[in-house]
Amino acid sequence: DIRGVIFDLDGVLTDTAEYHYLGWQKLADEEGIPFNRVANEALRGVSRRASLMLILGNRKYSEAQIQEMMARKNRYYIELLKNITQNDLLPGAIALLDELRQAGIKTAIGSASKNARQVVDRLGIADKVDAISDGYSVDKPKPAPDLFLYAANQLGIKPAQSVVVEDAAAGIEAALAAKMWAVGLGPVERVGAAHVVLPSLAGIKWADLQAKLNDAAN
Ligand code: BG6
Ligand code: MG
Repeated sequence: DIRGVIFDLDGVLTDTAEYHYLGWQKLADEEGIPFNRVANEALRGVSRRASLMLILGNRKYSEAQIQEMMARKNRYYIELLKNITQNDLLPGAIALLDELRQAGIKTAIGSASKNARQVVDRLGIADKVDAISDGYSVDKPKPAPDLFLYAANQLGIKPAQSVVVEDAAAGIEAALAAKMWAVGLGPVERVGAAHVVLPSLAGIKWADLQAKLNDAAN
């Protein structure tokens, strides 16, 4: 039976994707590299370094230049994060977190972002989750299972007792690689590999989610 739920942050509890996009767009413009919202779709849930690599394509840069560009984009992103408040929580997020706590189900954040703690604080949900795993917790980014395994370990539960809620293909892949239950938010073209696919967390009750996971198991 399920004892914990691990939530991805960007695109699941809040929509920081726009801020990540604006940071990368500014950097790409400064470097004279073509980039736009469509190209940005491929960066969903992807680590900072892998995102930059996708933008740079086969252009050659030194490691020092790569480090500088990652730091520059992060400065732009951190500046934009100052705009985040509780109002930026996506519909259904708080209700589900509160319901899970009420039901005695453990909760964790499992985010690839090194800024996850700051975002959690700004959203005002730090005291609503039992653990935070972020971009500092493990070396191997999603789709490796490491981050979610780390989160389950923080909660003291086994992978088979864990549910991951994700909006990115790489995140669903990571959850399945960890042998956890996967709930995908968004279009099936993106998260169709998950056990359960939902448009968003809006109106989602824990009992409904459990029933859907049970159906998927049988
Ligand atoms: C993920 C985001 O949560 O974190 C990605 O979906 C982002 O867009 C990645 O690149 C790394 O975040 P950060 O804040 O460490 O650059
Ligand atoms: Mg995400």
